[in-house]
Amino acid sequence: MIDKKTIDRAIDLMFEDVGFKEEPADLYAPLRYMIRIGGKRIRPRLCLTAYSLFRDSLDESVIQPAAALEVFHSFTLIHDDIMDKSEKRRGQPTVWTKWGDDEAILSGDVMCIEAFRRLAFAPAAVLPEVLALFTDTAASVCEGQQLDMDYEKLSDVTMDRYMEMIGLKTAVLLACSAKMGAVLAGASTENAGKLYDYGYLLGLAFQVADDYLDVYGDEKLFGKPIGGDIVNNKKSWMLTRALEKTSDRDGLRRILALPVENVEQRLSKIAAMKAVYDSLELADEAKNAIGSITADALEAVSGMQGYGALESYAFKLVGRVK
Ligand code: IPE
Ligand code: IPE
Ligand code: MG
Ligand code: MG
Ligand code: MG
Repeated sequence: MIDKKTIDRAIDLMFEDVGFKEEPADLYAPLRYMIRIGGKRIRPRLCLTAYSLFRDSLDESVIQPAAALEVFHSFTLIHDDIMDKSEKRRGQPTVWTKWGDDEAILSGDVMCIEAFRRLAFAPAAVLPEVLALFTDTAASVCEGQQLDMDYEKLSDVTMDRYMEMIGLKTAVLLACSAKMGAVLAGASTENAGKLYDYGYLLGLAFQVADDYLDVYGDEKLFGKPIGGDIVNNKKSWMLTRALEKTSDRDGLRRILALPVENVEQRLSKIAAMKAVYDSLELADEAKNAIGSITADALEAVSGMQGYGALESYAFKLVGRVK
């Protein structure tokens, strides 16, 4: 077992030397920027936490693949912010607003490739398995992102389809992070599978929390503009549940059809949608859903050696305010 302090330190040092090239500056500067402006680093932490259950010390053969998860995640955010037209991330201007769409696309591409460079530090014996896990996951994230965009245009999305979509865009990467830690540590297939399920369920809870915070979060802490999902007609957990629960679907559809061309229009659409969510008491329901999925995640690993570390990780993750 590796203690939390050791993991904290490894996370702190993980990107001390990012190792990205300098030139061409407009290609590589956004990569350094994304790493420098931070983020919670939940995916490498999950990988190291899973690894820590089965091993007593950390080395580059796990630290570099864990870093690959963060680099890949940051790449998805660069492209996600173009797709979602988001102007703020981690409390700072997004890459596309600073450098332009074209640079953001290409910097994202090279960042995705940089992730594979780090993944290759996995021990030769498990490298094929790690690569297969990672590439399957990366493709799933793209599938989820496509569904996320497709659903913007649909007037209705069921909760099952919402869960499938967030499973792909968000949960698989947490599942992959947890399982990768287990695989790198040489854990049994059974334990690796349980950790995958744990990561997947936590990922679902994490995305529901993200959707909740998009409406009810504190913008300063959250680091992203409040109401972005509403402006984009995203089929977030909030909207999906509102569509299920409302007795005034026409009223809801009228809000969805409101224009968002300028700041005033955007603010009034956000206020109108939030009023619906308030009247349907969705805030408490979202919190309950997050709690219940998290309980399922912990159930998946109950009795596993080092369970306490998995429990602490889960509680910290879903207690998120940012
Ligand atoms: C944001 O992920 C994208 C989602 C899956 C909701 P994080 O909330 O982990 O973003 P950072 O890395 O901490 O900024
Ligand atoms: C992001 O979902 C999922 C991925 C980046 C793959 P969101 O679009 O909800 O994430 P934020 O809110 O922009 O961080
Ligand atoms: Mg998105
Ligand atoms: Mg987004
Ligand atoms: Mg979001």
